[in-house]
Amino acid sequence: MRKKFLPVVISVASALAMTGCGKKSEEAASAAPRILVMVPKGVHPYYEPCYEGFKDAAGKYGVKVEYRAAKAFEVPQQVEIIENIIARRVDGIAISALDDQGLVPVIEEAVRAGIKVITFDAPAPSSKALTYIGTMNEAAGYAGAEELIKIVNGEGEVAVIQGGLGAPNLNDRFKGFVRCLKEKAPNIKIVAREDEQGKMDLTVNKTEALLQAHPNLTAIFGVSAEVCPGASAALKQQGRGGKIILAGFDDLPDTLAGIRSGVVNFCIAQRTYKMGWLSVEKLRDALEGKPLPKEIDTGVVIINKDNVDTYMQDMKKEFGK
Ligand code: BGC
Repeated sequence: MRKKFLPVVISVASALAMTGCGKKSEEAASAAPRILVMVPKGVHPYYEPCYEGFKDAAGKYGVKVEYRAAKAFEVPQQVEIIENIIARRVDGIAISALDDQGLVPVIEEAVRAGIKVITFDAPAPSSKALTYIGTMNEAAGYAGAEELIKIVNGEGEVAVIQGGLGAPNLNDRFKGFVRCLKEKAPNIKIVAREDEQGKMDLTVNKTEALLQAHPNLTAIFGVSAEVCPGASAALKQQGRGGKIILAGFDDLPDTLAGIRSGVVNFCIAQRTYKMGWLSVEKLRDALEGKPLPKEIDTGVVIINKDNVDTYMQDMKKEFGK
């Protein structure tokens, strides 16, 4: 008996510790806290602020949270992680979907097991996930292209680098990017679209190969977080930092450093902390039987030299941090 209750006691204690005030929340006072699990696409620093928001919200609401990441961005690995979570009968799962069709059966299995499932960061539109919390990706890809057009004066050769070709969030960004160029700058040619599978080292290699294959390359646009850091390393190594335009999604520390030093022209920062925070709130709503909207737009901010040192403070204001 004692053994059985021990983990619960620890869970309540840690949930209370996370509130930072020792005041019992509703759930913690009445029963064992609910368990919500965040499943990113795989191990990647992009997800750190997502989980920070998830954890902070858990502290506020007295739920217990966990983080389960596959080693690589590979669908069978993500499916296996989710299957293991289902077997433990947790209360809710927030998934950043590596693929749409590939996750349909496992999400269905979770729903049948009575687990609430939502997606954050990357949706799985064909699945039974209750909502998607994150960037409106096609519009964000479009906005990225608009910004790039201004910098290259509507002309030149652009290569796109993407971290995995299966995720709807990345494909939507690419779609928006292409549509904008067609509509607003038909003289810009997309000469390549490379897949680096979410890997930094592969991004470096792919960038090197691109520079060789396209001597007249004007710009590189990254639709995933590792592209600006990986490509800027390759550009610097070849003495071409600041000579080839580089821009893309997300605000990893090396990307921000690149903006400050001039190797990266701009980045599109997603509201990752907010995605994590809202994931807890929406899973709680679902557990209380409240309906969820189909999608929740967390918004993006374009970061360049002008706001690189101030945008984070502005974003955190919303959470009183
Ligand atoms: C995307 C994530 C992806 C990450 C790393 C971000 O731009 O929103 O879905 O996992 O980049 O590739």
